[in-house]
Amino acid sequence: MPEKKSTVKICAGRACSGRFSDFVAERAEQEITSKNLDVKIERCACQGLCDRGPIVILDGETKTYVDPVEMGKLLKKFPEKK
Ligand code: FES
Repeated sequence: MPEKKSTVKICAGRACSGRFSDFVAERAEQEITSKNLDVKIERCACQGLCDRGPIVILDGETKTYVDPVEMGKLLKKFPEKK
């Protein structure tokens, strides 16, 4: 299987987990799988932005306060693969 082009990192640190980053990761997983997006999910350690979590890093770009709905919106920029 070819390597995915883009990466979405979702903080798994304590503060972000307390702000339900697991649900954000779940949403990302659903979106990526159902639309076959060219995006790989990784969990990452605390990014030092705990008061602005959940933190998501999309291809190196840090996003703050990402809830599952926002996660879905962020992934819309990637084209669906048939
Ligand atoms: S726990 Fe996510 S930024 Fe600190």
